[in-house]
Amino acid sequence: MSKSAEHSWSFATRTVHHPAAEVRLQPVATPVYQTTTYRATEAEAIAEHSEEIGPPTFYTRYGNPTIDVLERVVADLEGGERGLAFASGMAAVSTTLLTLLNPGDHVVAGSSLYTATAKLLTHDLAELGVATDFVSPDDPGAFARAVRSSTRILYLESPSNPLLSLTDLAAVCQIANRHGALTVVDNTFATPYNQRPLEQGVDVVLHSATKYLAGHSDVLAGCVVCGRERADKIWLKRTLLGGTLDPFAAWLVLRGLKTLALRVRQHNENAMLIARALESHPAVARVLYPGLPSHPQHSLAVRQMSGFGGMLAFELRGGREAGIHLVESTRLAVLAVSLGSVESLIEHPASMSHSLLSDEELRRAGIPPGLIRLSVGIEDSEDLIADLKQALDKLA
Ligand SMILES: Cc1ncc(COP(=O)(O)O)c(C=O)c1O
Repeated sequence: MSKSAEHSWSFATRTVHHPAAEVRLQPVATPVYQTTTYRATEAEAIAEHSEEIGPPTFYTRYGNPTIDVLERVVADLEGGERGLAFASGMAAVSTTLLTLLNPGDHVVAGSSLYTATAKLLTHDLAELGVATDFVSPDDPGAFARAVRSSTRILYLESPSNPLLSLTDLAAVCQIANRHGALTVVDNTFATPYNQRPLEQGVDVVLHSATKYLAGHSDVLAGCVVCGRERADKIWLKRTLLGGTLDPFAAWLVLRGLKTLALRVRQHNENAMLIARALESHPAVARVLYPGLPSHPQHSLAVRQMSGFGGMLAFELRGGREAGIHLVESTRLAVLAVSLGSVESLIEHPASMSHSLLSDEELRRAGIPPGLIRLSVGIEDSEDLIADLKQALDKLA
């Protein structure tokens, strides 16, 4: 009970000072600790907590019990020592890179990255004196050739966005180890259900938890999982930059995570069926899906992934015009950016998610004008195939 309960305070005071909850029950669902600050019994305890890197009991930008549960669950699912939750995937990416990089450092990154991550590297981090070279993500030799004595990080997304190229994680880890560099992998597309990079030697895994981890298109969140010492440094940077996740958002991600395995299993199954159906349609020039034997890195996918994911891309014979027409013609797949949700989302990268890129940057990233990206949802696969077929038939 709070100190205020010992006195008979006036009405206005009693509306403000409520007794602290004394909970004897063990709730099954994680409660939302929607509080920014915590009662202390001794002044000195606050000073101790402000220095503490352990459980959060001080101020929510440093940590919070609901966020703490999410961080422990994500660390467990990725097989790492410590997890950290952020207000968005980009807060996770930027805080991690700002922690691990210093002026004069060099990064080698896969050339097919999420656009905001690429812009962060080429603009903001470049302004701080960090140089980045982009290399073909499917060629470990290209990573090896780009490494310099100042290289601190090999950064990649596998499967990549939007081309579904894979990077051989074990091969890139070997290169990084030889040169004393770190590997950082954005595992958003695969999810820990389909791929656990830390088990393959990667140093830091991060996610836009906005996508599959939360899974319902209703919350922005990010997370990082890595070894404790490195995570403690990223945690400190997070408290200073302020990108900590909100407790209610953490609760939404935790709720989504309970069905991650069920959802991803269905995403995997639907995507495989749709990829096969698309391959046989005359309006489609090629389908990019790691689960298809026609994918140039299918054998690598079989080796390093336990499922092939819910993301696929396909190129239309009709180019940019056909791409725009197709995404405006589906009735079930929703025309929207983002991915990883229960509902199927379709987009045309050249005019939507990658519209920030110039024509030259699009060409360099290997994104053809008729490319379509599909985030396959958990709807009935026959309905999804029928929907895509009616939209594709209109192009013929
Ligand atoms: C692969 C990948 N990484 C990071 C991000 C950034 O995540 P957020 O939008 O949660 O900041 C995205 C967003 O689309 C993404 O697709």
